[in-house]
Amino acid sequence: MPLIVMLMLLLTACTPAVGNQPVAAHAGGSSAGETVRPASQLVFEPDHVNAGEAREGDSATVFLRVRNAGDQMASIVDVTTSCGCTVAEPEERLLMPGGFTRIRLTIDTFAKQDDVQKWVELTDDQGRRSRAWVTLNVTANPHLDATKRSIFDGQCGSCHFAPAAGKSDGQAIYQAVCLMCHGAGGEGAYAPKLAGLRDVGALAALIAAGTGSRHMPGFARAQGGPLTADQIDALSRWLATLDE
Ligand code: HEC
Ligand code: HEC
Repeated sequence: MPLIVMLMLLLTACTPAVGNQPVAAHAGGSSAGETVRPASQLVFEPDHVNAGEAREGDSATVFLRVRNAGDQMASIVDVTTSCGCTVAEPEERLLMPGGFTRIRLTIDTFAKQDDVQKWVELTDDQGRRSRAWVTLNVTANPHLDATKRSIFDGQCGSCHFAPAAGKSDGQAIYQAVCLMCHGAGGEGAYAPKLAGLRDVGALAALIAAGTGSRHMPGFARAQGGPLTADQIDALSRWLATLDE
C-alpha cells in the first residue's frame, strides 16, 4: 500500500502579498525569455514547503495553501509544475478577498533519490502568477531494483524521451533530455556535474548504457532510450568541450 505523506499546513505566516515575487528564472525551468509580470494576489502561504520523506516509488501528497491577498474576487485558471511527475489540483478555483484554498500535489517519486525540489505555479484570471517550492527527501526502495519501469515510459516520455527526436546538434540534444537533471551547462543539479569530463568514448558508453541504475538509464535505442548512435556521438563530443 503506498505510503502517503500528508502535510497539512495549519498556520498562517502572515506574509504580506508584496513579499511574493514575480516569476523568476529558477533551476530546472527553461525560463529564459520569460516576461516578468506583476505577481498574483493569490499567494502561496508559505511559498517554501518541506514535504518530509517518501520511499522511492510511493506517491507523496502535499497540500499547499493559497490565500487571496487582494481586495477583488480572483480565480485560479491554471496550475503547472516543474515536472510532469507532479500533479496539482486546486480544491477551489474561485477565491473571495481574504479567502483560502488548498492545492493538492501528488508527486510520483519513481526514479528519484535524496533531495528533490519541485516548483508549482498558479496563474490567475489576470494572467498573473505565483510560485511555491516543495522539497522532498526520497529514500531508497530495494523492492524497485527489479523494476522494468523507466522515465522513458508513457506520459513521462513526453518530456524525458520525445524531445530528442530529430535533433542532431549535441547541445540541442542535451537541452532536450539531459539539462533537466544535469543543469544548463552540465554544472550538476539533481544529477552530478558533467562539465570537465573529457573522454568522448567513455561519455558515449555511459550515455548509451546508463550507469546501471534507473536514475540514469541507458539512452541508446537498444536500451529502450531515445537516442541514435549518431546523436550519442554528437552529444558526447559537445559535452567533452564544456569547461569545468
Ligand atoms: C512536462 C514534462 C515532464 C514530464 C511529463 C515528466 N517530467 Fe520528469 N522532469 C521534468 C523536468 C523539467 C525536470 C527538472 C525540473 C524538476 O526537477 O522539476 C524533471 C525531473 C525529473 C527527475 C529528476 C529528479 C527530480 O525529480 O528532480 C526525475 C527522476 C523525473 N523527472 C521523473 C519523471 C517521471 C517518473 C515522470 C512520469 C511519471 C516524469 N518525470 C514526467 C519534466 C517532465
Ligand atoms: C532523470 C534524471 C537524469 C537524466 C534525464 C539524465 N541523467 Fe545522467 N545521471 C543521472 C544521475 C542521478 C546520475 C548519477 C548516477 C546514478 O545515480 O545512476 C547520472 C550520471 C550520468 C553520467 C555519469 C557521470 C559520472 O561522473 O560518472 C553521465 C556521463 C551522464 N549522466 C550523462 C547524461 C546525459 C548525456 C544525459 C542526456 C542524454 C543524461 N545524463 C540524462 C540522472 C539523469
